[in-house]
Order: sequence, then C-alpha cells, then structure tokens
Amino acid sequence: MDHFQLKNGVLHCENVPLPAIAEAVGTPVYVYSAATMQRHARVFQEALAGLDDPLIAYAVKANPNAAVLATLRDEGLGADVVSGGEYRRAIAAGVPPEKIVFSGVGKTANEMRLALGGGLCQFNLESFEEAEMLSAVAAAMGKTAPVAFRVNPDVEAGTHAKISTGAAHNKFGIPILDALAAYASAKSLPGLDVQGVAVHIGSQLTSLAPLESAFRKVGELIAELRKGGHGIRKADLGGGLGIPYDPGVPPPPNPKTYGKMVAKVTRGWNVRLIFEPGRLIVGNAGVLLTEVIRVKPGATDPFVIVDAAMNDLMRPSLYDAWHAIDAVQPRGTRMTANVVGPVCETGDTFATGRDMDGVQAGDLVVFRTAGAYAATMASTYNSRPLTPEVMVSGDKWAIVRERQDVESLIQADKIPNWLA
Ligand code: LLP
Repeated sequence: MDHFQLKNGVLHCENVPLPAIAEAVGTPVYVYSAATMQRHARVFQEALAGLDDPLIAYAVKANPNAAVLATLRDEGLGADVVSGGEYRRAIAAGVPPEKIVFSGVGKTANEMRLALGGGLCQFNLESFEEAEMLSAVAAAMGKTAPVAFRVNPDVEAGTHAKISTGAAHNKFGIPILDALAAYASAKSLPGLDVQGVAVHIGSQLTSLAPLESAFRKVGELIAELRKGGHGIRKADLGGGLGIPYDPGVPPPPNPKTYGKMVAKVTRGWNVRLIFEPGRLIVGNAGVLLTEVIRVKPGATDPFVIVDAAMNDLMRPSLYDAWHAIDAVQPRGTRMTANVVGPVCETGDTFATGRDMDGVQAGDLVVFRTAGAYAATMASTYNSRPLTPEVMVSGDKWAIVRERQDVESLIQADKIPNWLA
C-alpha cells in the first residue's frame, strides 16, 4: 500500500496535490512519501517480530537521499552500504556505526580503512583475496575487523539476469562448496574476527522458493562451521524480496509470508539475523512526476513524449522494467500509446503499446514505484541535469535535492590550457 491516491480527481502524495509540487519545483521531479517508507519499514519489522533482535540494514543503494536515510534511521533501521560513499552518507545521516554492514565485491583498502576507523557491524567479504586485504589493513591499524563471508549458494533466483546474484557463474560471493576451506584459512589471518555467514541471491524476487533454498544451505553451512570450531554468531540473509509493479500480474509474497518462512528455516540457528531490504522499503514510496511535452502520431500507436527520460529513470531501458503510468488529473479517457522521453535513442522508451489514461500536451503524469533504483541511477546523458527530489510528510513537503543546473555541468569540465 502507498500514499499516492486520487482525491477529488487529483493525484496526491499524502495530503499534497502533485500539481502544486510541479508548479513550485518544475518537472521532471521525484516525489517521495515519508509515510509510505515508514509503513514499509514497520511492516517488515512486524514480519520479523518473532526473531531475536534482528538487524534490518536498509540497502542504501536503493535510494541514498539523506532525507530517506534519516527517515529510516528514525524507524530504527541500519544501513547496508557498498562503497565508501554510501558508508559516509549513512554516517552523515546519523545511522549508528554498529548498524552498518559493508557489502560489495570490490572493496578497496581505502574503503576498508574508512569503515574500520568509523566502526561498523560487519564486513561481508566476497573472496578469500578480500579477506587477506582486510586482514592487512586491520592489522596495520591495530584493529580487529568483524567479518562474514558472503557465500554463493548456486541457486537461480528467477529474476532478471542483470539482477540475479546467487548463481555459480555470477561474480558474487565464495562458492558455497569452497566455504569451509575459506573459513579455515581465514582463521589464521590476523585482524579478523570471522563471526558470520552472508547470502544475497538477487533482487525483485517474486517467489520464496529460491530464498528458502539458499537459506537452508546457509543453515547447513553454519552447522558444519560450528563443528569445525568456528564461532558463528551472525547470519545475513540479504535483501531481494520483490514488490508489485504491474497490477496486472500476481503480487510477490508479502513480508509476513517471508517472515514466517525465515522463522521456520532459521529455527535453532542461534545467531543474530541481519536483513538488507532496499526496494521493499522505498520502491512504492516514490513517483517520477513528469509533464507531457507533446503527443506525436506513430506508425501504430501515438508517442507520448514526456519531459523525463531514460537518464532520469533507467529501469525500463536497462531491465525492460514495467512502471505504472498514470495521469495526475485523469480526463476519464483511455488511450494506447508509446511513452518515450526526449533522449536521442530508441532505448529511451518507458512503455510500448500501453493502455493508459488519455493525455494531452501539458498534462502531468507519474511513473509509479520509482522510489528505488531510480533517482540514484540517473545520469546527465544528453546534458540533462539531474532531477530534483521532494519528500512529502502529511501536508508538508520539502525539496530534498535541488535540481542540478546546466551551469554546474558545464563548470565541471575543464578545458586544457592548449585549447584555451
Ligand atoms: N544486499 C545486497 C548485497 C545487494 O546487492 C542488494 C541489491 C540488496 C541487498 C538490496 O536488494 P533489494 O532488497 O533492493 O532487492 N538496479 C536494479 C536492482 C539492483 C539490486 C542490486 N543489489 C533494479 O533497478 O532493479
């Protein structure tokens, strides 16, 4: 459930009519609902309420805006970070270091130093080579790094190939069959406290079966590791639970069902469980608000050309992702259209042959479910400045990232003196 609803024929975010935001800030603009994020954080917490003190580390990559991080910090969530930049953003937003998990396949020595210096819950290591580097960094700092190995359980997640991470041919984690050897070798490395096992098999998962299969393998590994004398105290079960995008397809399992499955599979593990949800928390809490520039006839269906483009919302172009497209003030008519942006490539297509509200030039429309992996993946392709972000809470709203101006794009480039 989200807080983007029609009231008196006008789409609102909570109590704020979207035309008011478009008027004040211009379009395109991302609009986030704080109440929706809070609700999703609470629903996930409630779904896990039967577990002993779980840590929910929000995957910052989904939406790293400071206002989003602060909202989720206030809900008690930690942060799952994958770069020095995300670590610094989490700290800057006031996330307590002991609630920060550092994931990612290519952590550098500098990033390790940053997180070790500032503190964290644990590093999720993705190779033995990475463990050796962290060991050297920690030993040189006179510190002990809390670590888990991320294992690759070799399960097919059943999601888009570009966001599947738990199959043997993916770059992520240590093959689960090599894990015992990796833990045994890591034991003798100085500066490491090997205390956990981590897994994450992909994103936008619409079935629990692959998750359950991966978690069972982790449970078996923990038992083996304990037999081998390893003091495993934490298990990080990653993120990945999908959310509804298309009302025309059955929704993914809800958090409650997921929570029950987790409780069943992890019974008797005797560890602190960590979760890294991203999309589930913020996905439905955002829309991309855009204006129709013009409607142009097409060979079959007309083209609705909007002022947002693939550089603002890459998901349709990158993953053929489906985002609901709705008029902000529906005229009560329908049309079948291709919805496209102004960027100069055919990939700049949001929807093809879409049955949607009838719209005309000057109408406002939203791309829904644009709170996760949307603004954060934007670029300035075609010299289009980054889109601003607005957060709504009740009847209040605020710009939480200003629109970039073209001048700053121009100023960022430097002309070498031989061309000046
Ligand atoms: N933990 C790790 C280690 C991850 O790699 C990810 C996502 C998450 C947690 C959060 O997963 P979530 O709960 O959000 O599914 N840009 C793509 C999604 C990429 C996901 C990358 N990893 C998209 O727009 O669909």
